[in-house]
Amino acid sequence: MLTAASILLALLAVSSAQEQQANFTHHAVLDPNGKYLLNWNPPTNGSDYFTFECVVATRGWLGLGFSPNGAMTDADIVIAWIDANGNPQISDRHGPAQGNGYPPADSTQNYELVSGRKNNTHIIITFRRKLDTCDPQDRKITSDTTRLIWAFSDQVPTSANNIQQHSHRGVKSVQLVNPQTNDGMAKILADPSTKVYDLSVTNVTLPTDKRTLYWCDIFELPQWKKHHVIANRMMIQKGNERYVHHMVVYGCGEEDMSEHLGKPAACFDDTQIFSPMEKCKDFFAVWAVGGEDFVYPSQMGAPIFGDSKQRFVLLEMHYDNADLTPGITDSSTFRFYLTEQLRPVETGKITIGMPVNPVQLVIPPKQQRFTTYAYCPGKCTSRMTEPITVFTGLLHTHLLGIAMRVRVIRNGEEIKSDMRDDHYDFNYQSPVYLSKPLVIMPGDDIIVECTYGSMDRDTMTYGGFGSDNEMCLAYMEYYPKRNLSPENCKSFVDPKNLTEILGLKKEQVNIGPKASLGGGAVTVLNQDQQNVTITNWYKNDLKMTDDMVTKLQDYVKNSPQSVSCGFQGKDSAGGNVTDSTFFKLDGPIQNPHPYVEPAAVCTASSGTTGATTTS
Ligand SMILES: *[C@@H]1O[C@H](CO)[C@@H](O)[C@H](O)[C@H]1NC(C)=O
Ligand SMILES: *[C@@H]1O[C@H](CO)[C@@H](O)[C@H](O)[C@H]1NC(C)=O
Ligand SMILES: *[C@@H]1O[C@H](CO)[C@@H](O)[C@H](O)[C@H]1NC(C)=O
Ligand SMILES: *[C@@H]1O[C@H](CO)[C@@H](O)[C@H](O)[C@H]1NC(C)=O
Ligand SMILES: *[C@@H]1O[C@H](CO)[C@@H](O)[C@H](O)[C@H]1NC(C)=O
Ligand SMILES: *[C@@H]1O[C@H](CO)[C@@H](O)[C@H](O)[C@H]1NC(C)=O
Ligand SMILES: *[C@@H]1O[C@H](CO)[C@@H](O)[C@H](O)[C@H]1NC(C)=O
Repeated sequence: MLTAASILLALLAVSSAQEQQANFTHHAVLDPNGKYLLNWNPPTNGSDYFTFECVVATRGWLGLGFSPNGAMTDADIVIAWIDANGNPQISDRHGPAQGNGYPPADSTQNYELVSGRKNNTHIIITFRRKLDTCDPQDRKITSDTTRLIWAFSDQVPTSANNIQQHSHRGVKSVQLVNPQTNDGMAKILADPSTKVYDLSVTNVTLPTDKRTLYWCDIFELPQWKKHHVIANRMMIQKGNERYVHHMVVYGCGEEDMSEHLGKPAACFDDTQIFSPMEKCKDFFAVWAVGGEDFVYPSQMGAPIFGDSKQRFVLLEMHYDNADLTPGITDSSTFRFYLTEQLRPVETGKITIGMPVNPVQLVIPPKQQRFTTYAYCPGKCTSRMTEPITVFTGLLHTHLLGIAMRVRVIRNGEEIKSDMRDDHYDFNYQSPVYLSKPLVIMPGDDIIVECTYGSMDRDTMTYGGFGSDNEMCLAYMEYYPKRNLSPENCKSFVDPKNLTEILGLKKEQVNIGPKASLGGGAVTVLNQDQQNVTITNWYKNDLKMTDDMVTKLQDYVKNSPQSVSCGFQGKDSAGGNVTDSTFFKLDGPIQNPHPYVEPAAVCTASSGTTGATTTS
């Protein structure tokens, strides 16, 4: 059966081989030693097909799998090799129903061989498949993070029924549909007119008594004329890749931060907060683990310099020393690539989400799924005088995040938004380039939903900066740029009403002015009349019940939240608004008609069982 299919597919391979000489737009190194490279092109111009090229340092077979969680169970798997006669072979298979083990062949073969060859060291096999093959034994490729499982072996199979176990295997998270692309980076690097501006930390020593370090350093911008940022690159000190988790550059608005120059320090600890974190809030650039070079589309640039009032930026590094390895110091650099030749379209930044706060963002322990809701209502977006187009963004949670989405509701109908990920991976926070940009119109309602899984936790998880604490933030970049400074929109539940659900009387809770920056600022008078921090109260005193969880989930979704609207523009009376404004919502943003992804058009001939084939 497979032989007949292979012949047909080999014919198809010949016909499309030429067109597939085209370069691949996307690339990933799947294994840590660089033995397994994946190149691919997402569907373009109305085609349904992904084309993948696997370049693997083996003479046997290679396997690639699309897995919901990194395991073989329920994964969609393809195995390919060059047979003893030098002919490429491919076999569409699937993971066993339980556990890891031999993957049976699919009854319908949906992977089409395009070409294959080998040399003394490598096999190079190109194949294609539809985004949705309509075969229940395959998995649809989505705009979520995909856990690609990969494997190879030096044994050449004698047939598809005789494939030996892999000698190497692993898993790697990748964005297949909307990956970032560093296409154009080579040109930017080669262009003598490209300038660079670096922000570096020097010899930061990671602590060995706690996992997370936020390191903050203030820099004064040079007095250059206005430039455009056209690319950026995170240059992690060699060997520190596993410790540098993410980095954010914030502008400090018109604040004079000169007293903090040359005094890098931990951004905060349990008792005090380094003040730059409070004053520098204009999100300007972000990089997180898994991210590669970021290249702007050729007609776009993000303005930098040339504004004499905005003199300072804050570089915030997040280190994650999960196993408390001693003796780690870091000197990493974030590099902006700049041009003086201003590009026609300027980009701007918006952040939407929840405050990082221990009494507003809470996730009860032992939950499969607990979802928080941040609301940015039409009353805020209507300050914009024209639509904005979001073309890239980064969704950010910490360890418990399993799904996140930015929903946009226009006149009661939710529109399609690819700023979403149902398979979120804390360790792969790459920005996406939206192949279908997300347009936000004045008056649109926006909901940012973050879903967490806390089965492994025994106590309450709360909003905070540590990896073990949580966040829910969507960083987005759009065009055309509207104002001088980045904008944000955040929503807040009432902290006293929230803690009341947990059994605390309002008079037991004291919320200090810096509550939004650390757990130490909220204190509770516990049963023994001791004055303890809320985070210690969560750990030592709180006994969560199922009833509390139900009420909490209802509360964070349906209570009337307050909004901090940092969008600038026109208010309803036509006056100019340049400041953040607080207002209270009457209730949650409603989404009566959620967006439903149209089902794929499945025809009888969308695969081959051996005797028949497509197209
Ligand atoms: C592939 O890349 C090469 C050089 O990088 C370029 O000359 C060629 O035009 C590209 N081919 C296609 C089909 O884009
Ligand atoms: C897609 O179509 C456009 C316009 O027809 C064309 O310019 C572009 O080169 C096509 N892209 C690919 C990858 O074929
Ligand atoms: C075999 O092909 C791979 C991938 O194109 C290449 O990197 C490698 O250098 C080649 N090896 C030899 C011995 O030609
Ligand atoms: C950083 O540490 C290295 C090695 O200890 C030392 O040589 C270097 O001078 C330090 N750099 C700074 C700026 O302190
Ligand atoms: C908090 O609860 C009180 C009743 O206990 C209610 O009147 C008030 O509206 C609530 N506030 C919010 C923001 O939910
Ligand atoms: C508990 O301690 C905090 C901070 O030290 C203080 O602000 C608060 O007033 C205290 N609360 C009570 C009830 O003593
Ligand atoms: C609002 O801002 C615009 C330009 O930013 C300016 O031309 C206009 O005069 C301002 N209107 C008021 C009422 O300040």
